[in-house]
Amino acid sequence: MKRENELYDRFERKHDYLRVSLTEKCNLRCKYCMPADGIPLTPKAHLPNTEELLEIISIFTEMGVKKIRFTGGEPLVRNDAGYLIEEASKKVPETAITTNGILIHKYFDLFEKIGLTSLNISLDTLDPERFQFITRRDRFDKIMGNIRTAISRDFHVKINVVLLKGQNDDEIIDFIRWTEDTPVHVRFIEFMPFQGNDWDNSKLVPYFEILEKVNEEFSTEKLKDGPHDTTKSFKVKGAAGTFSVISSMTAPFCSSCNRLRLTADGKMRNCLFSTKDTDLLTPLRAGEDIRPYILNCVRDKKEGHGGLDIFDKLPNRSMIAIGG
Ligand code: 5AD
Ligand code: SF4
Repeated sequence: MKRENELYDRFERKHDYLRVSLTEKCNLRCKYCMPADGIPLTPKAHLPNTEELLEIISIFTEMGVKKIRFTGGEPLVRNDAGYLIEEASKKVPETAITTNGILIHKYFDLFEKIGLTSLNISLDTLDPERFQFITRRDRFDKIMGNIRTAISRDFHVKINVVLLKGQNDDEIIDFIRWTEDTPVHVRFIEFMPFQGNDWDNSKLVPYFEILEKVNEEFSTEKLKDGPHDTTKSFKVKGAAGTFSVISSMTAPFCSSCNRLRLTADGKMRNCLFSTKDTDLLTPLRAGEDIRPYILNCVRDKKEGHGGLDIFDKLPNRSMIAIGG
């Protein structure tokens, strides 16, 4: 394939990782992500159906995408999620999913069959009451049960913990303790600003502070990170699991970014923080070749953070609309 048809941007970054949001819907209402009443949903006719979504995914894989991660909303609330994940897995060497874990028990067999071995599960607290406060739903026991089953079935389980000062930063040590005897991989995520999520600098728990807290209690060692990893990973010496920090705010990793995104309504984004969408569904429905749209979108990618100062509140869509 000629280089001009590949997914390179102006900064020589090659893009081979596509994050596909399957739906805007979610069965939780995490306060930092979703308003209590949900978000206004796009009418179904304006969302890609099963065939359209698979066609868009195929075009990306023909253009060099090697890894697909399904996100949402909660990807597994989409009716055809299983079929889509299975079909997509035939087109790429690696498929992955980010989920809140409520429905994964229905998909364990499928994931094993298609070789989807790594599960990113969002869980911001180990306390059931606090879980209910953060997510406005009483699903802690279900999720914890599913996490234990996933670990016992040998899935590589990563736990995404969005840290908010005064809300769950007092649980950092408890999460680390969990990694001591359980092969679980805890990832602390710095709180990021999105439309309507009340972001403010004072709620951010910075990377260095997380490490300081951990190192006061534990003896840790640094682990090697991959070239495109968004995490800085560590483990407590002798522990079964690991922990890491996703320092999107205080130590961004834009220079090695290989990600592109497809929103649930069929629009492409070249960065989580980009304020511009590239509609792929409309031209696809009009019978146009969508490759030029994809290439333009990639070449339009800014060097870092969508070209915005992310310490200002962002004129952006909410996380749930973009796909995490
Ligand atoms: N800042 C950081 N992480 C967030 N997530 C959702 N909203 C935010 C935010 N504002 C996380 C979810 C999930 C992942 C896809 O993104 O908790 O784990
Ligand atoms: Fe749902 Fe994830 Fe948003 Fe929580 S953070 S409401 S689980 S999409």
